[in-house]
Amino acid sequence: MLPSLLSPLGSLWPFSFGTAWRTSNMSVTYIKRHRMEVDLRRRPPLAPRLPKDYRLVPWCPALLEDHAEAKYLSFHCEMDAELFPCLGNPEGCRKLMQDISAGRGFIAEATWLIASYDQRGGWEPCATIQGSRYDATYGAIQNVGVVPQHRHRGLGAALVSAALLGFQQVGLPQVYLEVTSQNVGAARLYQRLGFKRTKTIYKTVEMALS
Ligand SMILES: CC(C)(COP(=O)(O)OP(=O)(O)OC[C@H]1O[C@@H](n2cnc3c(N)ncnc32)[C@H](O)[C@@H]1OP(=O)(O)O)[C@@H](O)C(=O)NCCC(=O)NCCS
Repeated sequence: MLPSLLSPLGSLWPFSFGTAWRTSNMSVTYIKRHRMEVDLRRRPPLAPRLPKDYRLVPWCPALLEDHAEAKYLSFHCEMDAELFPCLGNPEGCRKLMQDISAGRGFIAEATWLIASYDQRGGWEPCATIQGSRYDATYGAIQNVGVVPQHRHRGLGAALVSAALLGFQQVGLPQVYLEVTSQNVGAARLYQRLGFKRTKTIYKTVEMALS
């Protein structure tokens, strides 16, 4: 388990980009994010490749809890849990998965879990991705997450590739996602898979001062 990246005071440092305003007990901070897009007609997705002892599991509703667990373990110590507090607790992740999978645009074909073989002979969830239809052209990737002890083995690339193939399968030619600008590892992963930055967005985060 990674140590928490947050200070004991719960400050957004080192992820904040300037305090916009501050009252006696609240502050609002802008967080810089990038929209990144890939055009699957120009850059067809690659077949996902996984190391030994891992497998990609297609979406089915019975896997909701596994996706929620993988999401929580992937995000709760990360900067995105400051931006989206639901990512910082198991119940929030479960509710988010319920909302995403019940949403009108949800795309099962672009939603994948990676399970890792454990030494006791079972499988445990270790990575998750979800896809939704934004409009007739664009698919949206949500919440790519790999549990810390399974990172740097190609699981992130495999998840995104599997999702891109799913978008292609349902006829969506373009795919976008958003990434926090300081999340350079994630941005590099998306770039490697053909995504390009198209827009910068500033998200406001309201924090209670202690
Ligand atoms: C971003 C994230 C999904 C990447 O997952 P990952 O499984 O580590 O991704 P990959 O293994 O495919 O790629 C990561 C790096 O490992 C390297 N790698 C891949 N396979 C490898 C292997 N077998 N041996 C050594 N390195 C390897 C990749 O080249 C890449 O290197 P780079 O960072 O220098 O470009 C993961 O760090 C994560 O879940 N972060 C927290 C949640 C988050 O921020 N999600 C993104 C929200 S937009």
